[in-house]
Amino acid sequence: MTAKFTPRVFSGIQPSGGLTLGNYLGAMKRFVQMQDAGSHETVYCMVDLHAITVWQDPATLARATRELCAGFIASGIDPEKSILINQSQVPEHAQLAWVFNCVARMGWLNRMTQFKDKAGKNRENASVGLFAYPALMAADILIYHATHVPVGEDQKQHLELTRDIAAKFNNDFGVDFFPITEPVIEGAATRVMSLRDGSKKMSKSDPSDQSRINMTDSTDMIAQKIRKARTDPDALPSEAKGLEGRAEASNLINIYAAFADMSVDAVLAEVGGKQFSEFKPMLADLAVAKLSPISTEMARLMEQPDEIDAILARGAVRAREITAPILKQTYEIVGMVGA
Ligand code: TYM
Repeated sequence: MTAKFTPRVFSGIQPSGGLTLGNYLGAMKRFVQMQDAGSHETVYCMVDLHAITVWQDPATLARATRELCAGFIASGIDPEKSILINQSQVPEHAQLAWVFNCVARMGWLNRMTQFKDKAGKNRENASVGLFAYPALMAADILIYHATHVPVGEDQKQHLELTRDIAAKFNNDFGVDFFPITEPVIEGAATRVMSLRDGSKKMSKSDPSDQSRINMTDSTDMIAQKIRKARTDPDALPSEAKGLEGRAEASNLINIYAAFADMSVDAVLAEVGGKQFSEFKPMLADLAVAKLSPISTEMARLMEQPDEIDAILARGAVRAREITAPILKQTYEIVGMVGA
């Protein structure tokens, strides 16, 4: 089904709050690998329209968008190799989202766990945008006819919905127009957990700053957070089976494996038998060695906001060469006069 489509990767990150280690290991690092593999065209996006589904202070949003752009580049996204964009600068995302609002069913969106989590008890007071969020996400992906979407585990349900929307559109209009996109949820860090509670996802919205590593944390702060991370009293096992029921230990091993580009088994073969008092400094050293060049480069780029804006403006022009014809064809299929 997807054979006729150009192999193309799309993924996005919200510019709300700062980047966390979960974003880096679960998404950004893998975006760079897919870019460098060269087997796909790659399009990466700051999703500012998604961010405003909950309240954002305007000045903070603008700064977070530029900081996220700096984070992409500092992590290794090359704006010549990849198309790097800010969502609101490519209007076809929002235009296709409207069509998808009319394809997606209320029942489908009602089942989205992220909406339930974010809306909380006070659903009546959630924005309409928060409810329609997954239809915009489907539009982000399908306006490029993207075939592959690298994400962390928490986005899986949204990607299933994207497939449902593509299939329903194709079926309703009797076309084979949108690809049925493949989620790419791979590696040791598809679900990085809180450092304070191994049953909770590491998240920028967690009230405790100790629960996460931020990409802008200082070297000392990173080391301190890892030293204080919650663990159990046992030594590390030598095989993955020994991590069962040990959420905090698993999380730290997964983080190590993702940073070191090793399998969990290979890490355990090295560190099995060690106490956390010995393992945590190893992990802290590795994390600092990998993250501090990125945060230094982010800070340098943030001193040149005009350069960032120019990169995003160029990205938008390149993106629209893909998105404008796909929107036009969509409108023609739907029957819009003048498309
Ligand atoms: P967002 O901004 O919450 O997160 C961006 C990416 O980071 C991943 N991630 C994690 N991975 C592992 N462990 C964690 N603790 C962790 N926290 C976050 C997310 O899975 C995601 O891949 N709805 C999306 C943004 C989006 C999008 C898209 C993604 C909008 N349109 C189109 C892909 C394709 C979101 O809120 O991601």
